[in-house]
This record gives sequence, C-alpha cells and structure tokens, in this order.
Amino acid sequence: MHAEVTVPAAADMLALGWRLAAVLLPGDLVVLSGDLGAGKTTLVQGIGAGLGVRGPITSPTFVIARVHPSLSGGPALVHADAYRLGSPAEVDDLDLDASLETSVTVVEWGGGLVEGLAPDRLDVSIALALPAPGPGTGGVPGGPGPDSGTTLDNGPGPEQEPRTVRLAGHGARWEGVGLPPPGSAPTPGSAAASGSAAGSGDAR
Ligand SMILES: Nc1ncnc2c1ncn2[C@@H]1O[C@H](COP(=O)(O)OP(=O)(O)OP(=O)(O)O)[C@@H](O)[C@H]1O
Ligand SMILES: [Mg+2]
Repeated sequence: MHAEVTVPAAADMLALGWRLAAVLLPGDLVVLSGDLGAGKTTLVQGIGAGLGVRGPITSPTFVIARVHPSLSGGPALVHADAYRLGSPAEVDDLDLDASLETSVTVVEWGGGLVEGLAPDRLDVSIALALPAPGPGTGGVPGGPGPDSGTTLDNGPGPEQEPRTVRLAGHGARWEGVGLPPPGSAPTPGSAAASGSAAGSGDAR
C-alpha cells in the first residue's frame, strides 16, 4: 500500500481510520507519526470503530499501551503511545510482541522504535496540509464581509484543518493491498456497520 490522502477535517480522519480498518488483519503493525495534535489518536479512533472494538480510545496518559477487545469476534486493537519512550528496550517492556499475532497493533510515535516488532508494517504519517495556493490573497471573494479590518482567521474551526496522510506499506503483507474507496466507510458514529455497540465511544 502506498497512498496519499488529503483529510479535510477530524470527521474525515475518523472515516479514513474506518476505511483502513477494513484491510487490517491480526498480526498487523501500524506505525503512526506526526506532530503533536496531528490527528494520530483521531485516526486510531476511526480504526477502532471500524474494527468494532470496545472504546473509548483516548490519548494514553499514564497507560502507554491499552488493549481494546473486539465486540464482534475480530482481532483486538492494541493502541500504544511511544511518546515517552526513549529506546527500543523500553518498547520491549511493553510486551507488545505478546499480543501482536492476534491483534492489530497501532503505535503512535512509534517511528524508529517499534519496527523490530514485526517483519512487515504500515507506516502512516500525518502532516498539516499546506494551505492551497488559491488565486488572489485567499480572502472571502464576494463575501459580504462586515468590513475590512475584521479578522480573517475565522476560517475553518479547530475540527477542520486539512491534513495530508501518507500510507506506506513495508513488506510482503502490504503488497497489492490498497486503501478501500471512501464510499466503503459508513459515517463514523452511525454504528451501522456491524450493528454492534462499537463506534461512538460510549462503550465502557
Ligand atoms: N483534518 C483533521 N484530521 C484530524 N484531526 C483534526 C483535523 N482537523 C482538526 N483536527 C483536530 O486536531 C486534533 C487532533 O488530535 P489528536 O489527539 O488526534 O492528535 P495526536 O496526533 O494524537 O496528538 P498527540 O501527538 O498529542 O498524541 C483534534 O482535536 C481534532 O479535532
Ligand atoms: Mg495521540
């Protein structure tokens, strides 16, 4: 898998995770990179919803790795955050390899640390999309702006900052595997996919 996707808003990141979940199998290792607040956990939330695992999926604080069991007989999701880890030796302490074969393992900030866990992996990097170099200065063309001098930064809200997501599969596992098309993902939160209680993060 090699793909580059523009993700306009947080809801689209959830939908991308859902699409990705459709091709994830037990034994898969997904390594997420991107700056603070890039949207890594949001993507994992979409993956979790797509896999139909028990939530909620949150940013780990004290717990560095968390197991989300499946609600539908599929693989569990192991969600780890390696931000505070300094070396592959510390990764070893998490025992991710014990659950790797039977689970889908997704590691935020895992680049350079977790590659040794599995022969194959999917690297996902998330970056702020560059603002489109639109014609003109990017103001509000024809907009009935109250006046000049008012703020120009009332554009998209905090949930709507485009990201560029690059997916790169490494190893035989990912050869010939593509990202399912957008239409294949139900609207996040609609819980219609499996008819199960997964999805909206209110499972407990
Ligand atoms: N296009 C977008 N994709 C994803 N998130 C977006 C987007 N636009 C805005 N956001 C917002 O950005 C934030 C992303 O937070 P998130 O916790 O997913 O990032 P993170 O990469 O996991 O951060 P950290 O490095 O702290 O773990 C959320 O508040 C989300 O609503
Ligand atoms: Mg995070």
